[in-house]
Amino acid sequence: KRPIIIDTDPGIDDAVALSIALNHPKLDVKLLTTVAGNVNAHKTTENTLKLVSFFDKQVPVAKGCDKPLLIQLEDSADIHGESGMDGYDFPEAIAKALDVHAVEAMKDCILKSTEPITLVPIAALTNIALLFSMYPETKQNIKEIVMMGGSLARGNTNTSAEFNTYVDPHAAQIVFQSGVPIVMVGLDVTSTAVLTKNEIEKIKEFGEVGNMFYSLFQHYRGGSLQTGLKMHDVCAIAYLTDPELFTVQETFIEIALDGPAAGATVADLKMKYHDTTNAVVCLDIDIPAFQQWVVLNLEKIN
Ligand code: BDR
Ligand code: CA
Repeated sequence: KRPIIIDTDPGIDDAVALSIALNHPKLDVKLLTTVAGNVNAHKTTENTLKLVSFFDKQVPVAKGCDKPLLIQLEDSADIHGESGMDGYDFPEAIAKALDVHAVEAMKDCILKSTEPITLVPIAALTNIALLFSMYPETKQNIKEIVMMGGSLARGNTNTSAEFNTYVDPHAAQIVFQSGVPIVMVGLDVTSTAVLTKNEIEKIKEFGEVGNMFYSLFQHYRGGSLQTGLKMHDVCAIAYLTDPELFTVQETFIEIALDGPAAGATVADLKMKYHDTTNAVVCLDIDIPAFQQWVVLNLEKIN
């Protein structure tokens, strides 16, 4: 089992990603950390605790940063609803957050692990940037970062930037300059990785888990029920368990920090300006195989 820490801001696609990761036989979720993004960090923490309780898991949850490093938070409640997970009436969470900050919890978890940890940020990179700034010694025991964020082509916030790198571009820059190997699962694949009516109708039949997702999907404005719902964060989990679904390329990425493209992940795909690479980026995904993977993994939870 691969030991991972997921840093998250649920978020309806985060909820699907966490549900699969918490129940996947190849993954050992050591810690969940939360950050401000889709909604504020209080709500993303509550939502994470609700999911952990829903699945009756003992995975620790630690609340992280309330705002990006240097700029104000622009949330995404228009996509995920005011609560961040609108549409399903979760029972009150039994699980409680740790009383240490996410950065401290990550540091402790990474330093005490006997096996290198994979970090899986599916939100703004604020907590990870602080971890590397405060505790650079943790880098030695990190296998890699598999992140949902960024885009080689268009953005989904300004013209060029994807939401997670747009929310905290300075944090993204620190992470891309960290020297830790990065796999960037960006909009180039995640915008095409949709669940269509066909999969959603199947998922609906999976007992209470199916009902929960069906209800959330009615409120998720990341795509449409007709053309398909974008499963951005779920792709990062699929990359961990089934990387052969993706076509990738090594490249060098830097972050645009301001101006009309703030938050854009600028890639030197032809390696014209750099001698070394700092990331592997996903270029393509096998969509039917991914859709099948999601359905199978949600079915198995029941
Ligand atoms: C990313 O932004 C968030 O709204 C989603 O949860 C995902 O992490 C997609 O751009
Ligand atoms: Ca997210």
